[in-house]
Amino acid sequence: MNEMDKLESILPEWLETSRLQSADGTVATYIPELSKAPQDLLGIQIMDKSGRAVSAGDTDFSFTLQSISKVFTLILALMDHGEDAVFSKVGKEPTGDNFNSMMKLELIQPAIPFNPLINAGAIVVSSLIKGDTAEHKSARILEFFRELAANPELDYDLGVYHSESETGHLNRSMAYFLLDKGILQGKVEEVLDVYFRHCSVKVNCADLARMALVMANNGTDPLTGKSLIPKRYVQIAKSFMITCGMYNGSGEFAIGAGMPAKSGVSGGILTFVPGRFGIGVVGPALNPKGNSIAGVDLIERLSREFEWSLF
Ligand code: DON
Repeated sequence: MNEMDKLESILPEWLETSRLQSADGTVATYIPELSKAPQDLLGIQIMDKSGRAVSAGDTDFSFTLQSISKVFTLILALMDHGEDAVFSKVGKEPTGDNFNSMMKLELIQPAIPFNPLINAGAIVVSSLIKGDTAEHKSARILEFFRELAANPELDYDLGVYHSESETGHLNRSMAYFLLDKGILQGKVEEVLDVYFRHCSVKVNCADLARMALVMANNGTDPLTGKSLIPKRYVQIAKSFMITCGMYNGSGEFAIGAGMPAKSGVSGGILTFVPGRFGIGVVGPALNPKGNSIAGVDLIERLSREFEWSLF
């Protein structure tokens, strides 16, 4: 039996076992709109390079990218400006702090955020996206996401966007701090609008799997043959995903699954097996580190069974 056939036969049952973990997690409430997601929801899609997809669970559910978007805005900023310019504004190191912490910003000089996947770093990255206006920058980001997901229908969840924009006081305070330190340039409210918008792009597991497949294939969509990301930038993004993609849970996930991954507070996880599979998961109940509790459980079990770990 080949791997996809085996996945097809075991996935529904394995998903139901992992789903039980959801009871021990917590759906995010700090963005009020996210609190509406069902606690025990869990879905997964795995796609190989021929386009064959295996899925299980609640794959119809739509959710917002949240922090998963940060991987792709980083890539777009790198495509816009190159490595030297981007990494003069944001660092390359894990923090060991929560994703929305600003603690370390005051401790180092210059006050550049530790990495592009924490909120402070991603806000700086949003300020680097090329475009004449905030609308133009957001349109370029959305167009890039649509290409990666091979889905021209991708759009914002405006309910989540407004909900975060109205309540994102901590992100606002970070952005003003970074303005004061000369790290952030431009109009802060416009930068934040670009950031809140890319976090609120609505996807499903199939969209995530397809975006992940492009990463797994070093930046080329294997189904269209179109090169969407230079290989070097996939390499950079992949390194950040391993070291910081699951925040404070990144080391644990590297040991448990050993795959590049990025989580979002909506419960999404984008992960992949380089050269082989793109994987999209959603499970809104989060563990204390802010990662989908059932999603992590399922990916770790699959990785062990199929020996997907890079290490
Ligand atoms: O800025 C925020 O807080 C959210 N838009 C994104 C945070 C997030 O997804 C953290 N992930 N676990």
